[in-house]
Amino acid sequence: MSQTDMFKLDGKVVMIPGGSGGIGSALAAGVCEAGARVSVIDRDGDGLERTCSRIREVGSEPLAVAADLTNKDDADRAVAETVDHFGRLDVIINAVGGGAGKVLFEAQDYPIPEWDWIMELNVRATVLPTQAAVKAMIELGNGGRVINISSVRANLGINAGYSAYVAAKGAISSLTRQWATEWAKHGITVNAIAPTFVDTPQVAMLLEDPDFKASIVSRIPIGRVGEPSDLIGPVLLFASDASSFVTGQILGIDGGLTATQ
Ligand SMILES: NC(=O)c1ccc[n+]([C@@H]2O[C@H](COP(=O)([O-])OP(=O)(O)OC[C@H]3O[C@@H](n4cnc5c(N)ncnc54)[C@H](O)[C@@H]3O)[C@@H](O)[C@H]2O)c1
Repeated sequence: MSQTDMFKLDGKVVMIPGGSGGIGSALAAGVCEAGARVSVIDRDGDGLERTCSRIREVGSEPLAVAADLTNKDDADRAVAETVDHFGRLDVIINAVGGGAGKVLFEAQDYPIPEWDWIMELNVRATVLPTQAAVKAMIELGNGGRVINISSVRANLGINAGYSAYVAAKGAISSLTRQWATEWAKHGITVNAIAPTFVDTPQVAMLLEDPDFKASIVSRIPIGRVGEPSDLIGPVLLFASDASSFVTGQILGIDGGLTATQ
């Protein structure tokens, strides 16, 4: 295998929970360009259609599954449909999550319903599809790759009402290390990317405020926020043979933000 072939995903099947989202849809198209076939899972059916069109433009035929990934039956069904359709499952990229900007409260007053919602969206909706996918990977016996999306906020406090989100992303980073430890014996690696702000619909309203955007950008040495396309290269690394001996790692994709802390 040549050095560049190591990054290719020909013959691999990648499942993307959150495939309708700003990041999930970009990653879906990116892994297809690298040769993978994908299933995209989301509760947003219109978004799934948009992602499927994008994937067809790069010459691949996706499977779309509408599902609520906070529900175990739905998560199990999404994995079963993926394996039935493609006959294998090699990679899961967990791209459900977020919500931070919608529920900002002082830490001492953080309301429990909003706390539970952020935990469900970020932790439960990662755990359920991953459990189902990894059980299938173990049964299929080809090893596999789990790629999570944490955040720079797993490591950096921010004085802006983010208690639940930082706790949820801390859990995702911890689970990345724990799962890597437990699943290595099955040939399954587990890694995470940890972006700073990425310009997706989820954060568009925050970034529309020029003062807010300027304050974010001023702390990032590379001098801009992220784009969804910035995440594709690191995800190809974790999804491909190029990272066979890498597991339990959390890669900052932050234009140097955490290097300054
Ligand atoms: N955008 C950023 O600035 C940024 C920065 C760091 C980390 N992240 C993380 O990246 C991930 C993706 O973020 P994004 O910006 O693409 O968000 P997004 O809102 O565009 O995408 C999330 C997707 O998850 C889907 N979803 C939500 N709940 C679901 C459920 N119960 N069942 C099925 N699907 C569900 C939504 O429909 C949406 O398509 C999140 O984990 C987020 O925390 C984002």
